Order: sequence, then C-alpha cells, then structure tokens
Amino acid sequence: MSTDSNEIAIVGMANDGMKKSIRVAVTGAAGNIGYALLWRIASGDCFGMNQPVTLQLLEIPPGMQRLEGVMMELNDSAFPLVRGILGTDDPNVAFKEADVIFLVGSRPRTKDMDRSDLVAANGPIFVGQGKAIDAVASSKVKIITVGNPCNTNALIACANAPRIPPRQFTAMTRLDQNRAVGQMAERSGVPASKINDLFIWGNHANTMYPDPRFAMVDGKSATELFDREWLQGDFLDTVATRGKAIIVARGASSAASAASAAIDHMRDWWQGTDGRIVSMALPSEGWYGVPEGLVFSFPCRCENGDVIVVDNLPIDSFAQMKIDENIAVLLEERDAVSELLGK
Ligand code: NAD
Ligand code: LMR
Repeated sequence: MSTDSNEIAIVGMANDGMKKSIRVAVTGAAGNIGYALLWRIASGDCFGMNQPVTLQLLEIPPGMQRLEGVMMELNDSAFPLVRGILGTDDPNVAFKEADVIFLVGSRPRTKDMDRSDLVAANGPIFVGQGKAIDAVASSKVKIITVGNPCNTNALIACANAPRIPPRQFTAMTRLDQNRAVGQMAERSGVPASKINDLFIWGNHANTMYPDPRFAMVDGKSATELFDREWLQGDFLDTVATRGKAIIVARGASSAASAASAAIDHMRDWWQGTDGRIVSMALPSEGWYGVPEGLVFSFPCRCENGDVIVVDNLPIDSFAQMKIDENIAVLLEERDAVSELLGK
C-alpha cells in the first residue's frame, strides 16, 4: 500500500484473463452506506461473478483515515474480482474514466428534518461532483444518486455535466419499491421474490406513490388481493414515511437496506430486468406530463444497458393526484437550487 496526503492505493492484484475490469467510483465510501455497499460490489452481486472491478473511493479529508481502514478491510476480504482499490479526496481522481458512479457521500437527516431540508447542506456537493464527472468520467458512465434529497441532487449533478447524456443520471427510489414489496410480502405471506411490477412514482420524499395497480403477488393482482383502504392508507403511509421510522428506531438512517437497494438498482441497469418493471428516477423527457428535466421516479425496464421508461400505462385519478403532488414538490426543490444548476 502506498500513501500520500490525499491518495491511498492498493494495486497490483493479478489479472487472470477474465473480462476487462470496470472502474466503479463510490463517494462517501467510509460512511455507513459505503460500508455495506462496497462489500456487495466487490463480491460480484452487482456486476456479476465474471466482471472484475477496480474501486475508486472518494471521501472528504476528515474521512480519509476512516477510508484507509475500510480499504484495509476490503483488502483483507481478498475478493477474487477486485483488481485495485484507490482512495482519494479528489473527485477528479475518483471519477477518472469511471464506468459506474454511486453518489452516496453527503449528510443524512436527523429525526426532526425532512429530506428536502438537506438541500442547502448537500446540494453544493453535487455541483463540484457534476463538474468532475463531466471532466473525467467515461462518456457512457452510469450514475446512481443516493445522497439526499436524491432526486434534486441528481438534477444538480446532471445540470453541471453537459457532456454526459441526462439519461445516465439516475436517483434511487428502489429502496421505496423494496419497502413496498416488503409490506405486501408481510401482509400476504407471499415471499418477496413472487411480487413483481410494484413501482414508485415521483420523489424520494413523503409524497412518493407506490403504485399497486400493476403489481402481481404470486400470480394474483395486488388490487384484488388487498383492499383499497389499506393500499391508499396504511400501506402508502408506511412506505412513504419508513425512512423517518428507521431513523427514530435506529438513531441513524437506513444503511444496509439502502446499500442493498443501490445494488438492486445498478444490477438491474447493468444486467437487465428481463421484462420486469422497476423504479428508477431519471430526468423526465415529458413522460406522463412530468416537466422536462425534473428527476422523477417512473416505471422502467432495463435492456442492453439502457433504461426504458414504460410510458403507456393508464393513469387513474388517484395516481394523477399523486403524480401532480410530486411534480409540485420537485418544482419547489428545483426553484430552491436554481443557482446551483449552472444556467
Ligand atoms: P454517513 O454520514 O454515514 O456517511 C456519509 C459519508 O459521506 C461520510 O463518510 C462523509 O465523510 C462523506 N461525505 C460527506 N461529504 C462528502 C463529499 N462532498 N464527498 C465525498 N464524501 C462525502 O451517511 P450515510 O448513512 O452513508 O448516508 C449517506 C446519504 O445517503 C445521506 O444523504 C442519506 O440521507 C442518504 N440516503 C438515501 C437513501 C435513498 O433511498 N435515496 C437511503 C438512505 C440514505
Ligand atoms: C431513507 O429513506 O431511509 C433515507 O432516505 C434516509 C432518510 O432520511 O429517510
């Protein structure tokens, strides 16, 4: 291992004739989500058991000592797929030629805050990181934004990276989808693996809408299996406010489930969804009347490394009301960060 003031590297692991290694950058790598996420990336859970990875880890200077410890532990895990590990506090180094970026590094909220209250503290991070992505990342880079408020942070990063096509900037609503699946699994006794096509509209905020209308639970329609009162009442409220409930119970925001959802999101993008519908937030191209550019969670399928928005689902009056509510909140968030959008 070699160390200087702001860069740590563990290199030189043998290349054994497998596929070319991909460069995977993770920000906030010494934080709680990072600690759960890195092991899943390194083990092959995200990109497959035949895909070597080089990890490019970003922290801020006060996090560099913790990052050094995380890197020691990664090295001690002797993952067969890891081809190199770099730790740095310079985004231009972390994002260099990156094929995939997990934007996690930012402050979590406390129990007295809404996620949108974080925008003043966290928004500026995504200006500098967007510019660095623009300057040095692969032009095909796939980006997931996890740091909150994640939809608007993705918007900020995207606006500051004009070289990268907007569709490559996504934000994570997969945790909300997984929470919705978990609620239906618990209520019906059907394993999560048999619940499909349940997805989230809108913002990763209390206004989000887990849409049950197309969900299938062990071959049965969710809207036939569960009553409307539950679907539009306790089910919706539990999913929408789960983040706060976890902060209250754990004294810290969700980390393992968030890392797991980030793996699900990127694995599906990288490896495809086989026709299943999943939730991803990405800059709207006007789908379902959502104003262009707003980073909004839509029903998506992934194929050949592309995200395809399923843009022809029927919308009923409740869904329309929830979509409108999310548009309004995201427009407010966009107004609040207008000076960070570089226009
Ligand atoms: P944490 O405080 O444990 O870790 C964050 C890490 O980011 C720290 O190590 C910190 O030093 C680092 N960091 C801060 N600013 C940075 C910067 N500019 N560049 C690089 N690193 C930076 O927090 P956590 O629990 O890992 O959560 C991280 C973020 O993810 C929070 O904003 C949280 O609200 C969000 N989150 C989102 C979801 C979601 O579903 N979208 C779920 C859970 C958490
Ligand atoms: C979550 O949904 O768990 C995260 O976004 C953390 C939070 O602040 O709710």
